[in-house]
Amino acid sequence: MNFQTERLGPHMAAAVDGVDLNRLPDAPTQAALTRVLHDNLVLCIRGQRLAPVPFRDAMAQFGVPVLRKQLARTTECAEVNIISSEDRDVLGDGKRLVNGENWHTDDSFMREPCSLTMLYGVVVPAVGGDTQFTNMYAAYADLPDEMKARIDGLKVIHKYSSSRKLSRISTRPAAEMAAMPEATHPLVRTHPETGRKSLYLNPNRMEQVVGLDRAESDRLLDALIAHATQPAYEYRHAWRQGDIVIWDNRCTMHKANADYPDGERRLMHRVIVAGTAPY
Ligand code: SIN
Repeated sequence: MNFQTERLGPHMAAAVDGVDLNRLPDAPTQAALTRVLHDNLVLCIRGQRLAPVPFRDAMAQFGVPVLRKQLARTTECAEVNIISSEDRDVLGDGKRLVNGENWHTDDSFMREPCSLTMLYGVVVPAVGGDTQFTNMYAAYADLPDEMKARIDGLKVIHKYSSSRKLSRISTRPAAEMAAMPEATHPLVRTHPETGRKSLYLNPNRMEQVVGLDRAESDRLLDALIAHATQPAYEYRHAWRQGDIVIWDNRCTMHKANADYPDGERRLMHRVIVAGTAPY
């Protein structure tokens, strides 16, 4: 399979054209797609038209799909979650919920957070609804040496319902909340496949830096978040219907935007694939 690659942002993100994922790529093509992803952190595969099962099967070529029950799922395929402009806090106040509306990396409250997320634009609004990404390799590389020396080796506690969280989260059953895992992860992680170091932050899930008092921990986390979310590190994806955007949670953060006009619909199908404990 031949495909064409186009660089999307100055320091991250690439799009490929000429791939129909209804036919699984052969091994060299799959390896080439994975290389584009590793080199660019965010990979957009244009022009797809996929039912949930073939979407899951195509994403399974990048890793092992995992179930997430905090989000709605398609009836056809349990590993395909739904993110929609119609999302509501159904077990709570019933009000609109925007999943992922603040900077985050997926699943950092898990001991083994997912490595990749794949979002498929089934219906996209005519304007707005972009997804923003930030390059955490670059954010780490640009830190002053004294800051690198200070944070290398530090660990952070991540919780599903962190007291620092910015986003409203959906109401979950009490038993599920009580069983929700938390995890301690390094502040600087090494990508298991590229060997590159990146900042590992999640403003929505980080609770406290281990070994620092709360005020000092908050100051450090706030400073690192402000640094990593500067426009200089950002790529903003304007969706086209049929885009599949795959991002690497080990070296990026992302955020959704619900800035499209009322009455416009946005429907995304999402798959995540398994990762390993960050180190
Ligand atoms: C997410 O955070 O996984 C969703 C991003 C989006 O809907 O743009």
